[in-house]
Order: sequence, then C-alpha cells, then structure tokens
Amino acid sequence: MKFALVGYGKMGRQIAALALGRGHTVVSIDPVAVDSEFKEISATALNGVDACIDFSHPSQAVSNLTLAAELGCNVVMGTTAWYQNMDEVRKIVAKTQIGFIYATNFSIGVNLFYRIVEASAKLMDGFEEFDVAGFELHHRKKADSPSGTARTLSEILLANIQRKQTLLYGIADHPLEPQQLHFASARCGHIPGTHEVIFDSEADTISLKHTARNRQGFASGAITAAEWIVGKSGFFTINHLLEELISNKRK
Ligand SMILES: NC(=O)c1ccc[n+]([C@@H]2O[C@H](COP(=O)([O-])OP(=O)(O)OC[C@H]3O[C@@H](n4cnc5c(N)ncnc54)[C@H](O)[C@@H]3O)[C@@H](O)[C@H]2O)c1
Repeated sequence: MKFALVGYGKMGRQIAALALGRGHTVVSIDPVAVDSEFKEISATALNGVDACIDFSHPSQAVSNLTLAAELGCNVVMGTTAWYQNMDEVRKIVAKTQIGFIYATNFSIGVNLFYRIVEASAKLMDGFEEFDVAGFELHHRKKADSPSGTARTLSEILLANIQRKQTLLYGIADHPLEPQQLHFASARCGHIPGTHEVIFDSEADTISLKHTARNRQGFASGAITAAEWIVGKSGFFTINHLLEELISNKRK
C-alpha cells in the first residue's frame, strides 16, 4: 500500500521507517521539515495514496482531514487534542464517505492497558477505602497537556468509579474533595509516554503503569490502522480495530 505521512516529525519519521520495512511505500507532507517531499496536501501529493497518516499539530488536524477527505483519501488521525471538533469531523467523514480512524494513542499495548484499567476500575468501584488518581510523563517538547491518553484514562475512571464525579488536571493547589479525580502531568527530557493509575488506601497502594519504551508501539499501531482502514468507509476508533484483533487472537 502507499501511505502519505502528514507531519514528518518524530512520529512521521518512525512510521516511515516501519512502513517501508512492512513493504509499503510512503510520501511525506510537511510544510516545515526540510526533507519532506511535499509541503502541503494536494491531489499531486496524494496521487495513488491509500491513506494519509496524520501526526502533525493539534491546530492542523481538522484542516488536514478536510483537505484529504475532499480528495477522497482515507485518514488515520494520530494527532491529538482536536477532539472539541468531533462533530465537525464526523460530518466531514459522512459527507465524503472516506474511511477515518483515530486514537488518542495508537499503541496496541496502551489500548490493552485501557481495558485493564477499565476492568480494575469496575472492581475498585466497590472498595471505597481506596482513593484513585493518575499521572502522566512526556518529553518536554510535547505541545498539549494533559496527554490524549491521560484524557481517555480519566474518562474510563470517571465512567466506572461512582465516587469520582469531577476531574482535576494539572496542579492541585487546594485539598481535594473526595469526588475529585486528580490526573497530573509532568514534562521532562525525552520520555515518549508513561501513564500510571493508582488506587490508594491507608494500608497500601495498587499501581497500574504503562511505559512506552520508544515510539515504535504508536507507529506500528498507526500502520496497522492504515492497513485496516483501506477499503472501509465511515468513522472508526481504535476500539473497532482492537475488537477485531482480540477476536482474531481468540480464534
Ligand atoms: N495517537 C498517538 O498514538 C500519538 C503518539 C505520539 C504522538 N501523537 C501526537 O502526534 C502529533 C505529532 O507528534 P510528534 O511527536 O511527531 O510531533 P513533532 O513536532 O515531532 O512533528 C510534527 C510535525 O508536523 C508538522 N506539521 C505542522 N503542521 C502541519 C501541517 N499542517 N501539515 C503537515 N505537517 C505539519 C511539523 O512541521 C512537524 O514536523 C502530536 O499531536 C502528538 O500528541 C499521537
């Protein structure tokens, strides 16, 4: 297959290397990267392309999707923090009938981690003596905070633990109310992404932690998503892909 890497930064380059290794061809589209083949999304750049894989910038996600969709190209959206425009994106996908898949985190390991956190939250819902919190660490150049993955983890915890009703991201500069869920962020060095959820009682702490060792997990998952979306039409999330992967493993 042929994929267009929209955004040829840290993720785009990692995806290019892995995709070539899997026998795909790639083109890069990036207005800034000096070695990108194209500077903008156009019919010429997308000639023969089966899917765009977008890892660019939160402010560019919707306009990139619009351009690709109008040219009839499927989109894998890895860029985060555009989610306030979800309704608009759904409309564009419905109108143009492309295949679209997004994930706050394309790592299959992280998506399995979501399932583990969900099952744990359901279990811990009944154990009120345990408080719950989360935190995430990323490299110091990350544009958004909290991470998309932290947002998804927070939503999972809120949906499954009744005693947690409201979310506090960032700094807790006051004593927390019992119903507040605190999910904190720190930025440091080159960390590709670490997420931890803890359940804490007077006697002990249970911690669930996912550590990305590098960007390979995100890149590999995004390529799997691109292979999967080709030939489909409509709006999908990584959960649709994950369900298929899990049921294939059970066969
Ligand atoms: N969903 C996931 O699994 C996952 C994993 C890692 C990173 N991300 C997200 O992916 C995005 C990119 O991450 P990164 O670490 O590669 O960033 P990066 O800064 O290394 O690279 C981004 C690149 O996008 C380019 N760019 C900016 N505007 C563009 C546009 N309109 N069209 C094409 N290219 C454009 C920039 O010039 C830059 O080269 C961020 O939103 C990040 O949070 C998502």
